[in-house]
Amino acid sequence: MRLLILLSIFLQIANTQRSRMMRRSTEILRDLDFSEIVYSVHIDNVGSLIARAEESNNRIKELREPSEFKSIVGTFPRYDEVVAWMNETSQLYPDLASTFSIGYTVLGRPMQILKLGLNGGNKWRVWMDAGVHAREWLAPTTAIYIADQLIQGYVNSDPEVLNYLSFLDFEILAVANPDGYEFCFTDDRLWRKNRRPITTDCTGVDLNRNFGFEWGGVGASANPCDNTYMGPYAESEREVLNIINHVLPESQKYIWYMAYHTWGELFFTRWDYTSDVPPDHVERLDLAQRTVNAINQVNGEIYLAGTAPELMYAFSGSSSDWSRGTANINYPYLVELRDSDGSYGFVAPPEEIIPCGAENWAGAKIILNDIIANYGGTTPP
Ligand SMILES: *[C@@H]1O[C@H](CO)[C@@H](O)[C@H](O)[C@H]1NC(C)=O
Ligand SMILES: [Zn+2]
Repeated sequence: MRLLILLSIFLQIANTQRSRMMRRSTEILRDLDFSEIVYSVHIDNVGSLIARAEESNNRIKELREPSEFKSIVGTFPRYDEVVAWMNETSQLYPDLASTFSIGYTVLGRPMQILKLGLNGGNKWRVWMDAGVHAREWLAPTTAIYIADQLIQGYVNSDPEVLNYLSFLDFEILAVANPDGYEFCFTDDRLWRKNRRPITTDCTGVDLNRNFGFEWGGVGASANPCDNTYMGPYAESEREVLNIINHVLPESQKYIWYMAYHTWGELFFTRWDYTSDVPPDHVERLDLAQRTVNAINQVNGEIYLAGTAPELMYAFSGSSSDWSRGTANINYPYLVELRDSDGSYGFVAPPEEIIPCGAENWAGAKIILNDIIANYGGTTPP
């Protein structure tokens, strides 16, 4: 018996090690330009994956009850549907929700924020951005799922959620790259950058290489045709400037900056650009570890906690590094959501939306509880 248990523990460890190694090799290829090569090799697979996910998404949208209030939870919504949902939420629950735009994209779309919080006054803030990379569709849906959990908790008077909402204001930028996101629906499901024309042949800047902290270093390209093009200079992109101009003037009020990406099931503490770590690394890593443990409890998915250079690869000019390095926000995290091995990679089927949202809502609660334990009873400067 004891031998069997030991054997099974050994096998589990061996499996984890193996999947980590598999992960590393696929991921090194994953987000860089190589992904184009990988995808063209497997073009048939990806093509049918995209077609199946699209069909399933349309079916789910059609099956929803026609009602006054159109919930978008559980689908991959178009950008207009996201904005309409934010608008309707703020009309339905004026004490809880409001929306505003932090500015316009290159193609003139408003970058719409859903703000959730109770009681007003001088409150600490949480920032969430998702979909900075256009094709990472599980990121917006996860931010929307978390927003919806806050809304449902308010509607049902859940004491834990009411406590979060009374203490904090949540600012949720569910689609941080609306032009790129829409381009995925209309032209190219695997588009990553924004849609600013750069040269006659090449379009778009990688917004998560364009932030001004440690801009232009490792993991960023100076070639406008590359998928990781960092832009002509730091903070050259409107979408990036809109975020910075909103967060930075009152950055001392923000406790938690959360960036949602896919894929890999990795929860990153700082830094993305170097394997050096900030002075509070032990505390930040401990919270990340507790977060991935809570995520694991929901559906058994194994997210790893650590830094990007350690678990994936280093990259510079990210919003998450900026949030710590420039804006000095205490809880700066980036998560790579499902999946772990790239079976579907960026092209998640809609059946993944709810389980991915649910596990990351459980993770978010760990961070929120930690914030309340450390900041409860205080107000921001
Ligand atoms: C959302 O509300 C804004 C401000 O009232 C309005 O300008 C916009 O047209 C609305 N968008 C949608 C899609 O409902
Ligand atoms: Zn990303």
